[in-house]
This record gives sequence, structure tokens and C-alpha cells, in this order.
Amino acid sequence: MDFDFTEEHEHIRRTAREFAARSVAPVAAEIDKNARFPAELVAEMGELGLMGIEVEPEWDGSGLDPIAYVIAMEEISAACASTGVIMSVNNSLVCDPLRKWANDAQKDKWLRPLASGQKLGCFMLSEPEAGSDAAAQKTVAEVDPSGDGFVINGVKNWITNGPQADVGILMCMTDKAKGHRGISAFIIDMNAPGVSRGHKDDKLGIRASHSCQIFFTDHKVGRDQLLGEVGDGFKVAMSTLDCGRIGIAAQALGIARGAFEAAARYATERKTFGKPIADHQAISFMLADMATEIDAARLLTYRAAALKAAGRRHSTESAMCKLMASEVANKVAKNAVQIFGGNGYVTEYPAERHYRDAKITEIYEGTSEIQRVVIASNIIRAISAS
Ligand code: CAA
Repeated sequence: MDFDFTEEHEHIRRTAREFAARSVAPVAAEIDKNARFPAELVAEMGELGLMGIEVEPEWDGSGLDPIAYVIAMEEISAACASTGVIMSVNNSLVCDPLRKWANDAQKDKWLRPLASGQKLGCFMLSEPEAGSDAAAQKTVAEVDPSGDGFVINGVKNWITNGPQADVGILMCMTDKAKGHRGISAFIIDMNAPGVSRGHKDDKLGIRASHSCQIFFTDHKVGRDQLLGEVGDGFKVAMSTLDCGRIGIAAQALGIARGAFEAAARYATERKTFGKPIADHQAISFMLADMATEIDAARLLTYRAAALKAAGRRHSTESAMCKLMASEVANKVAKNAVQIFGGNGYVTEYPAERHYRDAKITEIYEGTSEIQRVVIASNIIRAISAS
């Protein structure tokens, strides 16, 4: 086991950390307050090669490994979780399935501009009645009687990057009778006729990352927009989420680290009863627990990323790191507010933003309850088979 980073990993950490300090941290509070989508940060991430970190250079990506992706996500999310998730969706939920499932012509047309940051992507799985139960898709794609493609009708919910996206990966039913095996995946031009966007969701946290409903009304796609084969859609979605959950774990790590570092600094400056509050055991023990739990979550996240890098199945490990890191982020952010006391409850300090931002990591890309379902069912299946 090797805990040392490669030169490449150190390089991406430096790049992401400098970008976070130079461009993200100075605007994080403002974009949260105004729920402003940070287009200028997204453009800079594109220039720095952060929008297609694992995409092969052949398709205009950075060609780095999943650990590099985790490192960059943590650094950026420590400064701003909204910016982190905009990047994460493009990398894990859009570029990743295109790398795995698209043919060369599709990669040339769709992946190239996404990986280089010229275009932004979104992932459309959730529906008003298909959140945790992802197989209960009501959006349908029917064979187009007037051509050789499909006609799509339905509604998608809470689509991160939805208001800005140029390209989307869509899961929908092509054969209801087959259940999850009747779901197919399509690559969608988000500006084409028959695709429209609802109002931006008004959210508790990650307010600078926008989400909305997406409506499909007789939207026509060609067969060349099918990702994989007809009926592959559920597998596309689940295997994509195996990777996406590593990204959200890294986002949660970043939130936890941002909250921890702010609280630790504050604890050395703020005095009560004649000494810095960090010298009171109640606070120092809190800081010790925070640091230990962040490190434990980070190690689980690196393990899942290392398995992915090795090309091994990592569904259980991805669910474990996402479960752990999101719960750690919530606990750390809550205790950070406590350490800040009254100052933790006002927007002048970053603690309340980290606290609001942390919550979503226990919900999207599978709730904590769904992560436990995935972990338990995989463990029980392995025991039964042994
Ligand atoms: N990789 C590949 N295939 C997989 C898989 C995986 N990780 N997990 C399951 N499958 C396959 C199974 O092998 C099975 O295949 P067969 O048809 O060959 O038997 C098939 O999928 C069905 O598997 P299950 O019976 O386990 O499926 P299920 O219907 O019981 O659902 C679930 C399982 C884990 C609960 C799933 O529905 C799930 O993950 N739900 C949560 C959905 C989710 O995370 N949504 C997030 C939306 S995206 C988002 O949040 C983005 C954002 O905003 C940032």
C-alpha cells in the first residue's frame, strides 16, 4: 500500500488549490447569496483542464486518473461546494458515461466539447416519481413512425446544471413491459426543439449550482443519439453513479475540510475565560474528532478511486465512501457552526454556508439510505455466493 502521491497528483492539487484560492474563494459567499451561476469559474475550469479530468487527451480531456479527480474535487469544494458540483456533474455524470458507452463518432461530436469545457453537461435520471426508485421511469421514448429514431415525452426533476446545460444524458423507458431492462440512454441536445426548462429550483444550499425540471415534448432524436444499445439505460445509469458517488464523496470531503479549517482557525483566535477557545478541552476534542473523521472518509474515497483506476468493480466501495463522507461533512459542518457560536449563525462567516451545503451530499446521487441498500445487498449477495 502506497500513501504517497505521484508528481501528477501533486500537480493537480497545486493547480486546483491555486485556482480555488485565486478565483473561487473570493466569490464563494457572493455567488451563494445571490444564487448566481459562476459562468466565469466554469470557463476557467475548462481552461485548466478540470472539466474532463479523466477523459483521454485524444478526446480533448486531461487524461488523468480517478485519484486526480478526487483531489481536484476536494480542493475546489473546500472553497465552494456549488462550483464543485458543477464540475463533478460534467466529469462524472456526463463525460464518464460517454467515455464508457459512446462510439467514436459520438465521442467526437459530444464528448470533445464537454471535456474541453466549451460545453456543459447534465444527467437526467430523476423524475417527480422516480428518485430513489430509479427504475420507475415514466419518461418514454417511442419509435418515431416518421423516421428511424425516437420521440421522447416526459419530465425530469432536480437536474443539476439543467438551466445551463448544452448536452444531457437522458434515461427513459423504451419498453415498459421489460421494467429496468426496458430503460435506454440517449444523448440529448438541450437546445433542440421539444426540450424546455422549468424555473430554477430555490435551494437550501449549493445555491450557485442551478437545478431545474426538464420537459420533453415530442422531442425527436436519431438512433445515433442512443448511448449503448436499446435496454442498456439502467446499467448506464447505475455504473455512472458508481463513479459519480466518488465525486460526491470528494465534494463532501471538501465541504468538511473547508468547515474544519475555518473552525480551527477561529478557535485559535477567539478567546473566552482568558484563553483561546481551542485551549478548552470541549473545543479541542471536537477538532480532534473532526480531523480524524475527515481523514477516515478521505481514505475510503481514495480506495474507491484506486479501484476505479485499476478497472475493478467498485459499487460497494463507492457507496461506502459517499455514505461516510457525506455524514462526516454534515457532522463536521454542524460542529463548526457550534465552534463559531453566534458567529456561526450569521452569513458574515462561512460556517453557515458549509452547514447548508453539506446537507445535499446525503441526498443526491443516492440518499444515505440508498447507499446502505447498495452496501448491504452487495455484502449479502457475496456471503450467499460463498
Ligand atoms: N452497475 C451495473 N449494473 C448494475 C449496478 C451497477 N452499479 N447496480 C445494479 N445493476 C444492474 C443489476 O445487475 C441488475 O441487472 P440485471 O437486469 O441483469 O439483473 C439491474 O441493474 C437491476 O438491479 P437492482 O435489482 O439492484 O435494481 P433496483 O431497481 O432494485 O435499484 C437501486 C437499485 C440501488 C435502489 C437504484 O435504483 C438506485 O441507485 N437508486 C438511487 C438513484 C440515484 O442515485 N439517483 C441519483 C440521481 S442523479 C443525481 O442526483 C445527480 C445530481 O443531482 C448531482
